[in-house]
Amino acid sequence: MEGPIMNSIKTALVLGSSRGVGKAIAEELRKAGIDAPTISSKEIDTADRASVLAFAQKHPSTDVLVLNTGGPPKKDFFEIQREEWEKYHQQLFLSFVALLQMVEVHRGGYIFLISSHLISEPKENMILSQTYRLASWSMLKALSKHFAARGVSVINIALGPILTDRLKNLTADIPALEGKLPMKRAGKPEEIGRFVRSIVEGDIKYLTGVSITFDGGLSSAIL
Ligand SMILES: NC(=O)c1ccc[n+]([C@@H]2O[C@H](COP(=O)([O-])OP(=O)(O)OC[C@H]3O[C@@H](n4cnc5c(N)ncnc54)[C@H](OP(=O)(O)O)[C@@H]3O)[C@@H](O)[C@H]2O)c1
Repeated sequence: MEGPIMNSIKTALVLGSSRGVGKAIAEELRKAGIDAPTISSKEIDTADRASVLAFAQKHPSTDVLVLNTGGPPKKDFFEIQREEWEKYHQQLFLSFVALLQMVEVHRGGYIFLISSHLISEPKENMILSQTYRLASWSMLKALSKHFAARGVSVINIALGPILTDRLKNLTADIPALEGKLPMKRAGKPEEIGRFVRSIVEGDIKYLTGVSITFDGGLSSAIL
């Protein structure tokens, strides 16, 4: 059933909410009565420090912060240039550092990091992605006690294959990929959106400092 939430959550900054998983999260939060404007790479380009600082100055506080942005290409490690390391260091890590330092998340709020299942099962051709996503989660995990004392819950959402532009760009043959997945399908962005909404709307606070692998059973890890 849709309707306004019962707790005090009123505003959300969902980065990368013009498409894909971010869009689905913002749409679901809006259904819960939360002000979650669409934020594309035009509003904040996380690869550009000046853009990140300007965004943080414009949005000094929020109830929900979703750290999300575009992902890097598949690339052979030995072909990755220094400029690419620097670009994705800024895009996937330093941007989130600046936002966490500058954007206050109100007491009782939430921080979600959108990352990848590759942080626990790295792939040789996705090093640019998993290296910085793991760094971001490591930082946020360490900060989760600081945030817990302020009533702010922190959850990492480690995505498996989710049917978005990103997956279509990285995968030549989606049906062939889906045929190899445990559920014989990729995830739907709306499933992530509904998950985030259920946490926020349900006022679930004690689930914090955790990483949720959202991969339809793809991972074989026990813990
Ligand atoms: N889908 C998957 O299977 C999967 C799996 C593991 C991890 N991930 C990661 O999870 C994140 C979300 O995935 P997705 O599939 O929803 O991606 P997506 O469909 O490519 O959407 C990316 C979103 O991020 C925005 N964005 C792109 N570059 C940006 C930048 N430099 N600064 C700020 N925003 C930027 C895009 O805005 P514009 O519309 O302006 O371009 C768009 O709203 C990505 O980092 C992706 O790599 C995805």
